[in-house]
Amino acid sequence: MQPQAIDTILEGRRSQPNQLIEVLHDVQENYGYLPKEAIKSVSQGLGVPLMEVYRVASFYKAFRLKPSGKNVLTMCTGTACHVRGSHLLLDHAIDRLGIKPGEVTPDGLFSVEHVNCLGACALGPIVAENGSYHHHMTPAKLRKLVETISRRETGGNNDAQAK
Ligand code: FES
Repeated sequence: MQPQAIDTILEGRRSQPNQLIEVLHDVQENYGYLPKEAIKSVSQGLGVPLMEVYRVASFYKAFRLKPSGKNVLTMCTGTACHVRGSHLLLDHAIDRLGIKPGEVTPDGLFSVEHVNCLGACALGPIVAENGSYHHHMTPAKLRKLVETISRRETGGNNDAQAK
């Protein structure tokens, strides 16, 4: 972690507790998640108790307290997607990648998350790949997506992910 980045993020915001959510967004954008050291610096810099920073960071699903994989597959499990089989997609991803939501594959290439709605209910089930939406997903389409990403990342040398 580069402490200068935190100093830069806090510049002009020190001792302003009302900046907490914006600062946490900037920290996550910078690091990809909220490292413990950064959370401590934010707490001290803004004058917000550490417990409050953790409460906010863990309340909002947009914040990550652990690093994610290079490719984040976000599965929508909201009602509209659920009735169209999104639970099968989540099961498929868990089975294929060998990780649970919130975990990262050992090679660091994938992580899986699930959310309650991605705002495109009519096109569900939706799976987002690093924020890009794939609509009307099926287990077969998801398998192909994982294979495509895996090949792209490994140059076709990692068939373990694309079993
Ligand atoms: S419920 Fe899946 S996009 Fe809204």
